[in-house]
Amino acid sequence: MLGESIGAEQADMMIENVVGRFALPLGIGANFLIDGQEYLIPMAVEEPSVVAAVSAAALLARSGGGFSTGSTDPVMIAQIQLLDVVDSAKARGMILASQEEILNCADTSPSLSRLGGGPKSVEVRQLPDTPAGPMLIVHLLIDCRDAMGANAANTAAEAVAPLLEKLSGGRAGLRILSNLSDRRRAWAEVEIPAAAFNSDDYSGKDVVRGIAEANAFAYADSYRAATHNKGIFNGVDAVLLATGNDWRAVEAGAHAWAARDGQYRALTDWYVRTCGDCESIFGRLELPMAVGTVGGATQSHPSARMALKILGLEAKGETDSEQDSCGSDEDVGAESGRQGARRLSEIAAAVGLAQNLAALRALATTGIQKGHMRLHARQVAVAAGAEGDAVEFVAGQLVREGKIRLERARELLQR
Ligand code: MEV
Repeated sequence: MLGESIGAEQADMMIENVVGRFALPLGIGANFLIDGQEYLIPMAVEEPSVVAAVSAAALLARSGGGFSTGSTDPVMIAQIQLLDVVDSAKARGMILASQEEILNCADTSPSLSRLGGGPKSVEVRQLPDTPAGPMLIVHLLIDCRDAMGANAANTAAEAVAPLLEKLSGGRAGLRILSNLSDRRRAWAEVEIPAAAFNSDDYSGKDVVRGIAEANAFAYADSYRAATHNKGIFNGVDAVLLATGNDWRAVEAGAHAWAARDGQYRALTDWYVRTCGDCESIFGRLELPMAVGTVGGATQSHPSARMALKILGLEAKGETDSEQDSCGSDEDVGAESGRQGARRLSEIAAAVGLAQNLAALRALATTGIQKGHMRLHARQVAVAAGAEGDAVEFVAGQLVREGKIRLERARELLQR
């Protein structure tokens, strides 16, 4: 077993009031072919079936050539809230005319700029009617290269606030990144022949139609979309957690993105393509994905470092700068493009799409409970106190009886 994790001393330095450490299983998502490259995917997750299901879906995807992915430049948004601005149209004009001065002032990370990142542009948004009156919101767009970029964005936002107050005649309020990182997106696509879904019980054509219908349900209905997107994050979060990334940030951004037209919808798109007699299913997932391969836990946590190594994404660049939450020079790495954070975001998108495919395929055919049963039964057996061979014995009996209950597991164990 790969068991490297943080020591008690390191845990004590990571957060406050530490009383222990909390371990999760680390599994490997198998069979992934992404942009023609083979990947083993480290996944940290507590839920049974997730790793098995994603590996089965990745295997299916191979019959269509695997996943193709892409991503935007790693641009984060830092927001500065300006209040008490008397003439917001004039202030907006002043700010936009002073863009160069603002970008110079926001350029607080020499290592980021050296690698081609740093502040790139300024946008101004007017919120004329909030419960606290009108506001002017300035967005700094910052290319964060291989860092997640929270420190870089927050430091830059705080640095430019006094200048923005001067230019607008207003008062700066919040200075913080936006987790709706919609300029930093990743996507994955896959096309699989319907025949690959043929089985003794189902015709492939029926299965792909069922998958497209399931997606249509989640597009049109927010109640279903929440569950649909949760399934996507079973995969995405497991990769983010394994690589030491801030999965709450990515979740928040993706859920806001899912509601960008005013209704919360599926993050994926699945539809059937027909070519003569042949049918295939085409799937696409696109979402904001603010992740890093340098800085913070991605490098300080031994398991995260190992996960990045498994993915071939370990940091090779500048790693010597400050990483604390108030540091002015966030660790940004030397690699960029498809080697570093962008590649990680693309891989996570492919895993999310595969996880969703696994769920929709099961839901459109046998339902998910059948596949869940055995793994769930094992967990119940362990919770009842089973160890070693007894786990399989108790779990097997629970599945045969069709009732996966803790009391029954305890009874079996006593016997
Ligand atoms: C369970 O963790 C995830 C699913 O509910 C996702 C879905 O319904 O699409 C199976």
